[in-house]
Amino acid sequence: MAMRTLIKDGTVVTAVDTYLADVWIENGVITALTHPSQRPLLGNADRTIDAAGKYVLPGGIDGHTHLDMPFGGTTSSDDFETGTIAAAHGGTTTIVDFAIQTKGHALREGLDTWHKKAEGKAAIDYGFHMITTDVNDSTLVEMGQLVSEGVTSFKLFMAYPGVLYVDDGQIFRAMQRARDLGGLICMHAENGIALDVLIAQALERGETAPKFHSLTRPQIAEAEGTHRALCLAEMAGAPVYIVHLSAPRALDKVLEARDRGMPAFAETCPQYLFCSFDDLARDDFEGAKYVCTPPLRPKEMQADLWRGLKTNDLQVVSTDHCPFCFKGQKDLGRESFAKIPNGMPGIETRLYLLWDGGVRTGRISLNRFVEITSTAPAKIFGLYPHKGTIAVGADADLLVWDGDKEHTLDHANMHMRVDYSPYEGKTVRGAPTHVLSRGRVVVEDGKFLGKAGDGRFVKRSTFALK
Ligand code: URP
Ligand code: ZN
Ligand code: ZN
Repeated sequence: MAMRTLIKDGTVVTAVDTYLADVWIENGVITALTHPSQRPLLGNADRTIDAAGKYVLPGGIDGHTHLDMPFGGTTSSDDFETGTIAAAHGGTTTIVDFAIQTKGHALREGLDTWHKKAEGKAAIDYGFHMITTDVNDSTLVEMGQLVSEGVTSFKLFMAYPGVLYVDDGQIFRAMQRARDLGGLICMHAENGIALDVLIAQALERGETAPKFHSLTRPQIAEAEGTHRALCLAEMAGAPVYIVHLSAPRALDKVLEARDRGMPAFAETCPQYLFCSFDDLARDDFEGAKYVCTPPLRPKEMQADLWRGLKTNDLQVVSTDHCPFCFKGQKDLGRESFAKIPNGMPGIETRLYLLWDGGVRTGRISLNRFVEITSTAPAKIFGLYPHKGTIAVGADADLLVWDGDKEHTLDHANMHMRVDYSPYEGKTVRGAPTHVLSRGRVVVEDGKFLGKAGDGRFVKRSTFALK
């Protein structure tokens, strides 16, 4: 007989509704949402979780992670086991990670490699985007195969010349193909070719400290890349999703395109909302902990991103989790900021930060919190309606969330495999007491009860938003 779980007396929050309800779960799926007064009519549960005074939220969906990724002369420090366990602790129940095509090799080869990295290790459900570094006739054919296997989005880079960079012709061809397949192009939008000139000139002047990572990547380069990506997408008649948007001038470009009715979407990340150039400028190479791309911007730019989240000019907050240890990895760039592996840890801290700094401060509503962390990424990336909401028939990926519970974001208090926290010493309020992945309690009161390997690969649908 199927195990029946009841989450009783919680306040259910979706992107649109907030109401008191019991949530009934069987076979990993939500089977009923009922008013607590109806409970005597519904029989017994095998397990009951008391959510009185707490919220019941859809599990977080992080559409931008880099687990076990070779990059910058090293490999991101979380693999699919440590990374997904950390994600679960922080209330994220699904990730979409980036598989990489090595230049000169097939997409298939890259995707198979990432399937092997995740299988038997992931503790929560996962999907893949495909980083496409070589757009040619055979890659374009392969894109169709990948879409049919549920890998429906492709990330292209205008940055990192010689590594991940593709030129405008390749971008345009991939966009046309994505349009025909119902795929989505995710764009790293920075003018990498011009930035490499600025970087070389800075290094010639002896400007080697971490802060020059930001000073050689001005926001205009991101605005230009964003505008170019939007223009190419418009010419191709394809939807486009701008990843890790950090700069107000880039946001202006997205806003303009959306106002013209384009299917243009953008995400920002917690590091752009909660960290700034001041962190990157820290002494004693400490700034290296904050090297990510696009770079952290002056603090005053954060307000524009918060406004964008509120007004839906930005649709999603994902993490761009790409952790490197300070000792032994970030160290590679002691002599030159250009050699510091790019990326910051964040898979575990996203919901804490957005609740404390977004909902509790009144910058965003409860429902908007759910929308930007779960519902919108589910819809944009083809996971909806199985994931991203609380509804009968949806996967029981759920959080029981205590809006007042204190949590300190020290690295010693967290589960990411990295030797520092960007938020060392910061105490936030709001944390999950229970995290459910397809009906199984995987975290309870800070204890991991799940199992590596229990996460399933999720085949995502084609792009369906307008
Ligand atoms: O610094 C970052 N963002 N590292 C990960 C690679 C990327 O561009 O997303
Ligand atoms: Zn990127
Ligand atoms: Zn990334």
